[in-house]
Amino acid sequence: MGDKVRFTSSRKLDHLRICAEEPVERGDAGFGDIRFVHNALPECDMGRIDLSARFLDHVFSSPLFISAMTGGHPGTKDVNARLARAAERFGLGMGVGSQRAALENPDLADTFAVVRDEAPHAFLVANLGVVQLRDHGTEWAERAVGMIGADALAIHLNFLQEAIQPEGDHNAVGCFGAIEELCRDFKTPVIVKETGCGISAATARKCWGAGVRAIDIGGWGGTSWAAVESVRADKSPHAKDRVLKALGQDLSGWGIPTVVSLAEVLATGGPVIASGGVRTGLDVAKGLAFGADLCGMALPLLKPAMESDEALASTIDAIHRELTVAMFLTGSAGIAGLRRAPVSITGRTRQQIDKDNPARIRT
Ligand code: FNR
Repeated sequence: MGDKVRFTSSRKLDHLRICAEEPVERGDAGFGDIRFVHNALPECDMGRIDLSARFLDHVFSSPLFISAMTGGHPGTKDVNARLARAAERFGLGMGVGSQRAALENPDLADTFAVVRDEAPHAFLVANLGVVQLRDHGTEWAERAVGMIGADALAIHLNFLQEAIQPEGDHNAVGCFGAIEELCRDFKTPVIVKETGCGISAATARKCWGAGVRAIDIGGWGGTSWAAVESVRADKSPHAKDRVLKALGQDLSGWGIPTVVSLAEVLATGGPVIASGGVRTGLDVAKGLAFGADLCGMALPLLKPAMESDEALASTIDAIHRELTVAMFLTGSAGIAGLRRAPVSITGRTRQQIDKDNPARIRT
């Protein structure tokens, strides 16, 4: 195994440990600025509420999506296996982390393939960085999908993180063209996802125009990759890397808050996964009421997934219970009803939402 390949793999373990052990969340996704209109006479039975949701022609038992996190180092396989078992058991969709390490070194493919073994019926999303797509083309995209028998492929955008990583890719030229080319004849649906800085209306329009089938917001207000890379830089044995610590800290405020990004992207089309700082079942309910098709969580599922199947199952149960209560109290017997539930938007989120697109604000 070459140094570069080994490095991609060990970085995966660094990321997992830092996210599990250090404070890596920054900002405000905006869910606190969304308020449901309470329905004091809901006329539905809380015991019969149906959480099933549709996305890309697939029916899910719940609108909770397990966002892309891991794989690519032998030490990550158990976490992916637990996440996959939960996806199968609860009927959830799940993304794997960037498959670059296993595309560079096929010996690591089992750390990803384990998700299909453990979740034979789940909707699984493969994952590739846009820079790797540009540099290696459709062949890597096909191999990523094949590795896990994926139902969709997410192309992740993470240029803030790249800008702070000592080894990061700082050249984004040609990346949009690579997405256009991929969408032209790729059979598997392509999702474009951010990783914590959100997607603007202008970027979303370009993506739809290219033939992207869904957008995953990955907005600001949850896990901050600027914060993660700042911690990594601080721990680096190389003095030259340590100057990146301040860069990461200063830029951890950079990004479009998730709810603002959601408003922007929904104004241009859909379907959309709301993610970035989704922390509770109530946040999931708010994301859906705002117009999202699914809501993704990464960090809140990581710690329980590192612990045990039981810990992960009880976390998901708690999220579903809270979502169900929110649905009950808005009189929504199903997700379609929840997506029509009236909400009001207050505070900074309201100020930031484009005044030209007030359609999303239903006061
Ligand atoms: C991530 N995320 C991520 N995204 C991606 O597209 N490819 C990847 O390899 C990873 N890796 C990864 C590792 C870990 C440990 C975490 C916590 C997250 C980003 C993730 O999918 C999501 O977009 C953000 O984390 C925002 O969601 P949360 O964490 O605020 O719920």
